[in-house]
This record gives sequence, C-alpha cells and structure tokens, in this order.
Amino acid sequence: MEKIFAGILGMGHYLPEKVLTNYDLEKMVDTNNDWIVERTGIKSRHIAAPEQATSDLAFIASEIALKDAGINGEDIDCVIVATESPDTKFPSTACLLQDKIGAKNAAAFDLSAGCSGFVYALAVANSMIVSGLYKHILVVGAETLSRIMNWQDRNTCVLFGDGAGAAVVGQVEDGYGVLSIDMGADGSGGPFLSQPAGGSRKPASHETVDAGEHFIHMDGSEVFKFAVKIMGRTAEKAMKKAGLTTEDVDLLIPHQANIRIINSAAKRLGMSMDKVFVNVDKYGNTSAASIPIAMCEAREQGLLKKGKTVILAGFGAGLTWASIALKWSK
Ligand code: ACO
Repeated sequence: MEKIFAGILGMGHYLPEKVLTNYDLEKMVDTNNDWIVERTGIKSRHIAAPEQATSDLAFIASEIALKDAGINGEDIDCVIVATESPDTKFPSTACLLQDKIGAKNAAAFDLSAGCSGFVYALAVANSMIVSGLYKHILVVGAETLSRIMNWQDRNTCVLFGDGAGAAVVGQVEDGYGVLSIDMGADGSGGPFLSQPAGGSRKPASHETVDAGEHFIHMDGSEVFKFAVKIMGRTAEKAMKKAGLTTEDVDLLIPHQANIRIINSAAKRLGMSMDKVFVNVDKYGNTSAASIPIAMCEAREQGLLKKGKTVILAGFGAGLTWASIALKWSK
C-alpha cells in the first residue's frame, strides 16, 4: 500500500484583545514586574472578554486556518480540540466548534493532555490521515485559563494567558509533514498541576468553591523540575526517531511556559537560541494554544518555509510530554 504523509495544510491563531501587563498585575496581587520577568520571561498576556468562551477563540483561529488551507467546514472529517478550559464539561468544545464552522460531516472530540495537548492532537490526526481514515482534520489548541485562575494567587495568576491556534491537517507530498513522534505521561505527577474540584472525585459544592478548589492548583517548583528534565529529552527523542541531529533542525518551537525552561531545553539539545522560537514574553503560558500560536507567528516571520525542519516540544498537566519532528510542506 502507498505510504501517506500527513502535514499541515493551513493554520490560524487568535489572541483576545485585552492585554494584561505585569504592571496591571502589580495592582492586583503582591507581585512586581521585575520578579515576573526575571523568573519567567513574561511581560504581558491576553485575556478573553467576558462574553468569550474557549470555543469562540477556537472559532476565530479555525476560520483563518480553513481559509489558509483553501477549504471550508464541510470538507473537515474530524475536529479535535485540545483544551483544559472547555466551554462546558460536556458537550465537548470540539462539538460546539464543529457546529460553529459548519463541519457537518465531521466527528468531534476534546483531548486533555495539558499544555502537550496540541502536539498529542496532531499525533492523533497524523495517525488518522496516514491510515487513510480521514482526509482533513481540524486540530485546535484553545484556552481561556483566565476563567479558572485564582487572581489572588500570585504563584499561578502571573503565568497564564488566553488564546487559540488551529491547524488543518491532511496529506502532503511524500517525505514532508510529520517525520516522527514522541509522547509520554507520568500520572504520578498529576497532583502537581490540577483543577481539584468539579469532577467525579470532588463534585462542585459550596465547600469546594469556598476552598477555591475550582481554580488551577500548581506546585510550581515540582512542575519546573519536571519540565527542565523532560522538554529537552522529548525533543531529542523525536529528533533521533527521525534520524535528525541538532544541525539538521531549522527551528525548535517549544511550549511557551517559562523562558528558563526553554533555555534549559535548548542547552540540552546544544541548540543556539536563534534557532528557538520564543513569544512567552507577549502571551505567557497559553497551555494547549501555545505551540500553534508560536507556529503561526514563526510562519509570519518567515521562519517556516517549505522544506524547513521543525521540532515541536511540549510538556504539561498529567503530567505529559510530546514532541513532533515536522518537515514544513507549504
Ligand atoms: N511575584 C513575586 N514573588 C513570587 C511570585 C510572584 N508572582 N510567585 C512566587 N513568588 C515568591 C514565592 O512565594 C517565593 O517566596 P519565598 O521564597 O518567600 O517563599 C519566591 O518567589 C521564589 O519562589 P519559587 O517558587 O522558588 O520561584 P521559582 O524560581 O521556582 O519560580 C515559577 C516559580 C515561575 C512558578 C516556576 O517554578 C515555574 O515556572 N514552574 C513551572 C510552571 C509551569 O510551567 N506550569 C505550567 C505547566 S504546563 C500546563 O499544563 C498548564
């Protein structure tokens, strides 16, 4: 049987209008610009308007991606939305999005893998394309984490932002698109980054709300240690599986959580920072949206052209990690 290669046919991203700077945060919690910049590299983040939910952000990014790919909603066979801040527990945000874009021929489901979600979803879409199951899959990373943020907790509220990125995945020229995948998880680290209440373990109640258990809870230093260890390692594994060395890679697009984590991954890979895409300063950690937003901006800056070799590398809640080596096909 003929081998099929899957890659990205079109992309789009969206960031809500409202910008929240470190100086704005100084007025809200006991923090300061210097601490945030020095410890994280973040200067500002975007925050969804009160009437915007995750599917609204996803919709705008998806419309751009569909146009970029030259197809419309009816051509999509499957919608996958990676998110930790869905509009509702159910129906899935993917189903809401499927309706909004008129993808009436598509299956739809959400995927939960924290900030690794987009790369996980791209890996799933790749399998569905190369197996011949589907032709066009819309893969979206979208978050409104501001809605589950405790704005009184300086340990978390300075780190995250809202946004969405979308990709249309389909068959590409032989030898292009997804070259290799590395994915993994360590569920024993789940408690380090979680939303403790609102599920079947601890249903939402007055008590859980009073205790703030519907917010994101994070042990920052444990997540930091994990991230520093895993991000370089997973990128390295994807490179090795694709038979690539650091010299062969044109661009590393890491999950944008903290500049120190990005620097340490680059160091492990022996990669100079001019080959590493960084926009964490502008948007903070947009979780599952961070990698597709970075991909869109990298392309706008002329860094992603046909034939360029790119490594996507993420880590996140779960704990999870995922990397994909891609040969850009557009
Ligand atoms: N402003 C000022 N001071 C602060 C702030 C703040 N916003 N936050 C914490 N501090 C204080 C702490 O209270 C602590 O004070 P203390 O020593 O008096 O107790 C001090 O700063 C140092 O705190 P540390 O936790 O040691 O700071 P660290 O250098 O580890 O940085 C950070 C903290 C930025 C959270 C870091 O640990 C980190 O980036 N962790 C990873 C987080 C992450 O990537 N999460 C997302 C994962 S992906 C996903 O799926 C969503």
